[in-house]
Amino acid sequence: MAAYSSLFTSLHLDSLALANRVVVSPMTRVSATTDGRATAQMAAYYARYARGGFGLVITEGTYTDEAYSQGYVDQPGIANDAQAGAWAKVVEQVHAAGAPIVLQLMHAGALVQHNRFTTKTIAPSAVTPPGEQMPMYFGEGGYATAQAMSETDIIEATQGFVAAAQRARSVGFDGVEVHGANGYLLDEFLTDYMNKRDDDYGGGIGNRVRVPRMIVRSLRDALGNDFPVGIRLSQTKVNDPDYRWAGPEDAEIIFHALAEAGASYLHVTGAGAVEPAFADDGPSLTTLAKRHGAGLPVISNGALYQPEAAAAMLDEQGADLVSIGRGALANSDWPHKVRAGERPRDFDPASISPVATLDNQAAWETDNADVFEPLAGG
Ligand SMILES: Cc1cc2nc3c(=O)[nH]c(=O)nc-3n(C[C@H](O)[C@H](O)[C@H](O)COP(=O)(O)O)c2cc1C
Repeated sequence: MAAYSSLFTSLHLDSLALANRVVVSPMTRVSATTDGRATAQMAAYYARYARGGFGLVITEGTYTDEAYSQGYVDQPGIANDAQAGAWAKVVEQVHAAGAPIVLQLMHAGALVQHNRFTTKTIAPSAVTPPGEQMPMYFGEGGYATAQAMSETDIIEATQGFVAAAQRARSVGFDGVEVHGANGYLLDEFLTDYMNKRDDDYGGGIGNRVRVPRMIVRSLRDALGNDFPVGIRLSQTKVNDPDYRWAGPEDAEIIFHALAEAGASYLHVTGAGAVEPAFADDGPSLTTLAKRHGAGLPVISNGALYQPEAAAAMLDEQGADLVSIGRGALANSDWPHKVRAGERPRDFDPASISPVATLDNQAAWETDNADVFEPLAGG
């Protein structure tokens, strides 16, 4: 029998059939053209994960509109037809290599390091985010103070997600994942110190979850029932790794609201997926998502690159799928290796240093050519 067999059983996300439960975690590679078009190098990079046996590829966070959503230099977008057309080639190659591909839709909110459309940033309230910009995405120094979103801004951002998802479907993506995690716009609505609004979108968690819920519901209404719309959630943020929701009641309200809005799956992430979400010995965020997510499939993420940990997440904590980030950077064939009983190699931070570009990855792979099928340039 294949090693870690629970990782290698099939399942469906709505109508989408997956051959196994191992997913590529979304990872920003700041390697698109300056005007946000995906490249041939990106197509080769994503297709390689499909060849390596992943049951599903989730793309890097991709901006949704030509207003405030872009966060990074050379980040891909799906805000216009040219950007959508460029993604079509990525989709085609991933499909040809045998895996479905879901596009992660991202609005950077206050965490903007570069936006070629505007110098202003928006967030639920006029707040300066804590923390520093990320050098691995060409950032430096603190973040700008955001402008508080008007009701119109909220509607326009929502419409941006819907139009982006429609473009994604039109170029063949198998689903979309709303980025509700890690400190970006939707997560800012959930976060007490980023959301100080005194209207229906601020105050208690029941109000703070309204915008993420409205976006999921708008996507579901616009796309119908056979196009998966997932959402990614975390307590921690790229600019505040220690942040926690107020307690398990908040987790219950958030997961329940998003499931009820029509999400196809919940993708929960944090530094360590197996760790208790709140108290020292309480349930993990994955367990809470399973408990309060109305039976939706849950993708669990965070330090699951050892096969034992990934399999235990399915067998013992009830996750339906696992997503692998840094472990996939070091092993584009993680599923094939694990299934064959081989140990995946350790992640090397040098592969994303000083910047997380694919050129840097390719250079690192050339230096480690004994173990890597080299990534094509371009
Ligand atoms: C280079 C890099 C880029 C990332 N970009 C994204 C992103 O675009 N969207 C997202 O939701 N998470 C992003 N993440 C977080 C990963 O998806 C994942 O949650 C994190 O690495 C923890 O999982 P791991 O322990 O399997 O690496 C990124 C992580 C890395 C290392």
